[in-house]
Amino acid sequence: MFRTISNNLAFFRQFRQRFETTGAIAPSSQFLAKSMTRFLAKRGSGPVRVLEIGPGTGPVTQRIIPLLTDGDRFDIVELNESFVEILNARFQQDDVWKPAAAFSQVHQLPIQDFQPDEKYDFVISGLPLNNFPADLVDSIADTYFKLLKPEGVLSYFEYMYVRPIRKVVTRGDEKVRITRIDDTMAAHCAKQRIARDNIILNIPPAWVQHLAGVGSPDGAMA
Ligand SMILES: C[S@@+](CC[C@H](N)C(=O)[O-])C[C@H]1O[C@@H](n2cnc3c(N)ncnc32)[C@H](O)[C@@H]1O
Repeated sequence: MFRTISNNLAFFRQFRQRFETTGAIAPSSQFLAKSMTRFLAKRGSGPVRVLEIGPGTGPVTQRIIPLLTDGDRFDIVELNESFVEILNARFQQDDVWKPAAAFSQVHQLPIQDFQPDEKYDFVISGLPLNNFPADLVDSIADTYFKLLKPEGVLSYFEYMYVRPIRKVVTRGDEKVRITRIDDTMAAHCAKQRIARDNIILNIPPAWVQHLAGVGSPDGAMA
């Protein structure tokens, strides 16, 4: 309880100081976190490689960890050093997180610069794409698929109706930016989407998009 309040306050501080990269007023709800991890929850018995991008204070990480076991690999990429400190402290102190510490690593850098040796079975991203320049979204979307195995699953969320509304109410450069981001993500969804969840119980409500890796026969089933 104390940890939740303290993490919510830390998140809100970062929202005020770094709105563009934090992108949300509060950490994701347990309902959103459950949806983000639903394909990982159906994993087979062999070892898996999981990458979480933009975990913030760790509401989705908290759901990922109990689904992992010795022999798995869990990498976390987070830009903000305040969140990295919180995450590392949780791996040392939190009874749920401690068993995963041996096969987990928090990397402090932008995801565009992350160069692991191997691809991942699951890429789970909380990045606020709608806040970014359109070129950066193009490059991050490419990075997602470079990091994902063909048979893997990418899960990410976006707040409901933000782009459709902004496309109508904005003008000039902002309209161009948001339209380009919408086109980029819609094109990936058209080719690769396997499922979409509507999560009303989140602030704000969100869609969770689940996409297959490039080269998978499962692409564009939903
Ligand atoms: C909307 S918050 C999501 C936090 C958390 N996943 C949740 O659901 O509550 C976005 C997170 O992405 C991080 N972030 C933003 N840009 C990033 C980048 N280029 N690479 C890695 N992390 C980034 C921010 O620091 C922040 O922690």
